[in-house]
Amino acid sequence: MSQIFIILFVALPLAKARNLVTDTCMKISKADPENIKYGFCVKTFGSDPRSTKASSVDELVDISFNLTSSKSKSITSTINQVLLKDPKFDPFARSALETCSDLYSDGLDDLQTGLEALKGGDFPTAMSRVSAALDNGPDCEDTFKEKEGEVSPLTKENDEYFHLAVISLSLTVLLKK
Ligand SMILES: *[C@@H]1O[C@H](CO)[C@@H](O)[C@H](O)[C@H]1NC(C)=O
Repeated sequence: MSQIFIILFVALPLAKARNLVTDTCMKISKADPENIKYGFCVKTFGSDPRSTKASSVDELVDISFNLTSSKSKSITSTINQVLLKDPKFDPFARSALETCSDLYSDGLDDLQTGLEALKGGDFPTAMSRVSAALDNGPDCEDTFKEKEGEVSPLTKENDEYFHLAVISLSLTVLLKK
């Protein structure tokens, strides 16, 4: 008897949370199959223990924006604390790195304002802020392409950031419907 209770009370909420993540990831990956891979989406939410307890898409939105913002912060600090201190970068690369650092630190404000707008039901502002934040990945990458033969030291980071941000944007679109 007591074992059944344990199973019901422990397993059911877990199964429910897992379904919320998988259902949501299924929905948004179907809506944008090119940019959102179902497996990456599930893995992304799996990296945050709060996902297991989430009981609504709103909570997944908080988690997604948080993960996107954390990535933005971590890229900014990699640029400022590591890359800009590395003497191997020439003036062109340094200037590109500074541009990226500015993009990503401004992006934090876009994400925060976008999330607040979304919660307040102001979808146009939410969409434009989150889209602006999303562009930082490709925009940073493009900064390095302005000089022939220049290799971006941030390709992997920009790509990871973009894929996290696209989940935040898709959830914004999902809530808008
Ligand atoms: C993400 O959430 C954690 C836990 O609530 C918080 O400490 C952290 O500051 C958040 N990160 C960002 C970038 O908002």
